[in-house]
Amino acid sequence: MGQETREQVVIVVGAGPAGLATAACLTSLSIPYMLIEREDFYAPIWTKKSYDRLHLHLAKHFCELPLMSMPAEYPTYVPRAQFLQYLDNYVRQFKIKPMYNRSVIGADYEEVSQRWLVKVHNSKSNETEEYFTRFLIIATGETSDTFIPDVEGLHTFPGRVIHSTLYKSGKEFSDKKVLVIGSGNSGMEIAFDLSNYGAKTSIVVRSPTHILSREMSNLGLTLFRYLPHDFVDSLLVFLSKIYYGDLGKYGIERPKEGPFYLKEKYGKYPVIDVGTYRKIKSGEIQVLPAVTSIKGDEVVFKDGKSHPFDGDDYLLGDDGISKLEFPNHWKGKNGLYCVGLARRGLYGLNMDAKLVAGDIKTAAMKMMTPDQTPSPLQNTNNVV
Ligand SMILES: Cc1cc2nc3c(=O)[nH]c(=O)nc-3n(C[C@H](O)[C@H](O)[C@H](O)COP(=O)(O)OP(=O)(O)OC[C@H]3O[C@@H](n4cnc5c(N)ncnc54)[C@H](O)[C@@H]3O)c2cc1C
Ligand SMILES: *[C@@H]1O[C@H](CO)[C@@H](O)[C@H](O)[C@H]1NC(C)=O
Ligand SMILES: *[C@@H]1O[C@H](CO)[C@@H](O)[C@H](O)[C@H]1NC(C)=O
Repeated sequence: MGQETREQVVIVVGAGPAGLATAACLTSLSIPYMLIEREDFYAPIWTKKSYDRLHLHLAKHFCELPLMSMPAEYPTYVPRAQFLQYLDNYVRQFKIKPMYNRSVIGADYEEVSQRWLVKVHNSKSNETEEYFTRFLIIATGETSDTFIPDVEGLHTFPGRVIHSTLYKSGKEFSDKKVLVIGSGNSGMEIAFDLSNYGAKTSIVVRSPTHILSREMSNLGLTLFRYLPHDFVDSLLVFLSKIYYGDLGKYGIERPKEGPFYLKEKYGKYPVIDVGTYRKIKSGEIQVLPAVTSIKGDEVVFKDGKSHPFDGDDYLLGDDGISKLEFPNHWKGKNGLYCVGLARRGLYGLNMDAKLVAGDIKTAAMKMMTPDQTPSPLQNTNNVV
């Protein structure tokens, strides 16, 4: 099939949902590509690292990848196992064959040849491979590099520090004291799960955050298409106030700006409540302000108070990195693109994938010069 030829038209880095979506869109436009994945399976965050009770946070039509709907019989909130089945069908439907066990370790644009030189470490052969490509698409995910928040004195913490992507279930934490840092959706859901397993759970809420129920968030996403965004934001804040009341009592401030504004402008998601809030209200889960430093078994918080943690305790970190700002987040210079890096979830990466594939199609057609120099889409025998 010539998939491993050194000359490529498009290289996609990362075979998570974003890379798979991009691959499908490229195929539908008859654009050949090579997909590189450092692990030995696609979507490893879902297949290997996700925790046991995970459902998709959003209703299923916001979690679909391009060009293939989820089966009608799937419930509105798709459980992980069914999402995996969907991904499996997706990979087969679009005949996606990632090159596994390969990490991209660098990419340089060569002005003269107008191509990217992509350096890849093959972990199986322990060799460095080099490829050339006109278009380079980064779909490496926001959580791919296990990231532990950088807190002063973290190394002196006597207990275990782990990243939320390595968290599977609260089972091993029952009766343990756990501090979850990061109040995004995974942090909140993990706190809920830990508490259900009987862990003494605290969660750090660093900054003001909106809390919406699933229904509110779906209503918002639907109305958002038809109504002014300010209006939808005010409506959601209103509904959240009625439903949840004063969050400040429990240590959670509401932001001044609305949830969609914050999401679009800063990539800051509202928290979609899965039951955590009820536990916060009942005192089962304690909310703490930002951690300022750690001095051995004393964790110091922003309000000046400190709480003890010992060698049996855990600290679970969770964070993301937004690299490019919405809405110009998907296109860089010289044929460089990003898919799924704007903190907008599966819904966002679906849109990015379509935009990027369409843009590459247009750019590749333009490269067809009047003297009939073939476009990079012709003369390739590695169409997948
Ligand atoms: C626990 C959890 C639950 C989530 N639930 C939802 C939800 O319900 N709804 C929603 O919309 N979003 C959800 N998200 C957010 C987001 O949609 C998912 O994280 C989704 O997997 C993102 O897809 P991705 O392809 O961008 O990134 P990833 O799934 O992280 O995939 C990136 C891929 O790139 C590979 N890679 C990274 N670096 C390199 C490299 N240098 N070379 C080669 N390969 C590399 C990785 O191995 C990985 O396979 C959730 C996220 C998490 C962590
Ligand atoms: C990837 O590497 C792992 C471990 O090194 C190995 O078990 C697996 O067979 C490899 N997969 C592929 C597709 O090469
Ligand atoms: C891989 O190769 C590098 C040098 O190219 C060497 O230092 C390293 O020990 C090798 N690793 C394995 C696992 O063989």
